[in-house]
Amino acid sequence: MTPFPGNAKRGDPAEILVSLRRNGQYRGLVVRQIPGGPLVVLAGNHTMQALQAHGAGRCQYADHEKNPCAMCADGSWDGTTARCEIILCDDDEARRINLADNRLAELGGYDNDALAELLSYLDGDYEGTGYTDSDVMALITPPDLDDLDGSNDAGPDPEPAEKPSLADRFLIPPFDVLDARQGWWRTRKKQWLSLGMRSEVGRGDNLVFEGMAKADPKYYDKKRVVEQALGRPLTAAEFEADHYIRPDDAVASGTSVFDPVVCELAYRWFCPPGGKILDPFAGGSVRGIVAGILGRPYHGNDLRPEQVESNREQRDEFAGRRMLAADPSWSIGDSADWVKTLEPNSADMVFTCPPYYDLEEYSDDPKDLSAMSYDAFDEVYERIIAGVAKALKPNRFAVFVTGDARDNRGALHDLRGSTIRAAVKAGLVYASGAVLVTAVGTSAIMAGRTFTGTRGLARTHQDVLVFCKGNRSEAAKACGDVDVHLPDGVEDAFADVDESDELAEAA
Ligand SMILES: C[S@@+](CC[C@H](N)C(=O)[O-])C[C@H]1O[C@@H](n2cnc3c(N)ncnc32)[C@H](O)[C@@H]1O
Repeated sequence: MTPFPGNAKRGDPAEILVSLRRNGQYRGLVVRQIPGGPLVVLAGNHTMQALQAHGAGRCQYADHEKNPCAMCADGSWDGTTARCEIILCDDDEARRINLADNRLAELGGYDNDALAELLSYLDGDYEGTGYTDSDVMALITPPDLDDLDGSNDAGPDPEPAEKPSLADRFLIPPFDVLDARQGWWRTRKKQWLSLGMRSEVGRGDNLVFEGMAKADPKYYDKKRVVEQALGRPLTAAEFEADHYIRPDDAVASGTSVFDPVVCELAYRWFCPPGGKILDPFAGGSVRGIVAGILGRPYHGNDLRPEQVESNREQRDEFAGRRMLAADPSWSIGDSADWVKTLEPNSADMVFTCPPYYDLEEYSDDPKDLSAMSYDAFDEVYERIIAGVAKALKPNRFAVFVTGDARDNRGALHDLRGSTIRAAVKAGLVYASGAVLVTAVGTSAIMAGRTFTGTRGLARTHQDVLVFCKGNRSEAAKACGDVDVHLPDGVEDAFADVDESDELAEAA
């Protein structure tokens, strides 16, 4: 075989060899058979060079016996031959094929988002693709992060950034670590809460600790934990002044106020504007109020009448202040029954936060999932997920915020896994799994002791699981561009928080 005479392309045989060793020769060379003459390579000239460089007979690379490259491993490479597609053509056609093969690939372009997604599946191992770590970084780094060290600041009149950053476009960069400890997040959360959202029945004013013991079901657990750590009893006043972490600070967990920033991101990213949201474990009012403010009609169902009553009061308060662009609603009952009443293919999003097994018991109602055994929980949970999946329209997203629970023998129970299994069984596709990094809270006090005693790692994360019914691209299209703007009245209320840190803390 001979190379094409006069080939104008200058390829990169070394890089092709890396690909050959990783991927094998996945495509034949296109070779012209000149009757009675030589075999001329029209397409794949640099691949031929790479094959030659690989070496005949014996792989020159690595430890051939233990770790053969893909070329050697598939047995098709004997060191002297290449897989080819032989064609017959005249000289003119041969030149055109050679030119076209080199040129046509160059004429195409890239959808950079699709490219970044495809590369992300490789988990950082780009060998054999032609991409390097820095290519990928350049692809995913917003322009405003390119120059963190200021090294491009030399010019007196810097060019304005051409593209908005990922944060400009999506509020925060859409990576699968969502860090609620970061400054932007914490400020945003305080701003949302400053609007006056309360989630828990009986909590009353967030600033007032009196009554906390009643309102926070974990109050005495928390107090006991601190007392054990300090090795002495504490008065309520002492505990509340120095050690008590208000449920507001424990992001998105238990009976705490569900993190409104998680709601905001979930709705803006995964729910079409004006889309109808279903929540089978409604808990407090936050998911409904934030949805209403962002113009998405929300319906939540919860077993506890007093919780739903309190949510409705909150809704009326916000409606009175004309802050709701859509009306949230709640119903009372067992969601295992409620899902049977839902119209199939009617909702634009499912967004929920189930009980984290028995981490907190919401009631002693035998239908309350948090009062069930782990197996019973899984069985009812699966039915509820199947029900909401059926009610979801095709090409739409479902988002579950979950966390694991430890049983009294110390074993973790995997709610994330149960959720994924149930959702997949219900016909949903598991699309993204993010870690929500949350405030350290009381775990800081116990982390050393727990680790020393059991090597248990203090949990400071929850899971945000994104599923899709149908096609993800179609679902993304239905959601449209992410709107990052706040409704006017809300923006004004937020601004107050910016002006005063104290007010922010109070919120
Ligand atoms: C983790 S909580 C939601 C709390 C959430 N973090 C909040 O405050 O927004 C789960 C909720 O599921 C509810 N629940 C438990 N079992 C249920 C069932 N079978 N049907 C409906 N709701 C149920 C509980 O009453 C509780 O409010």
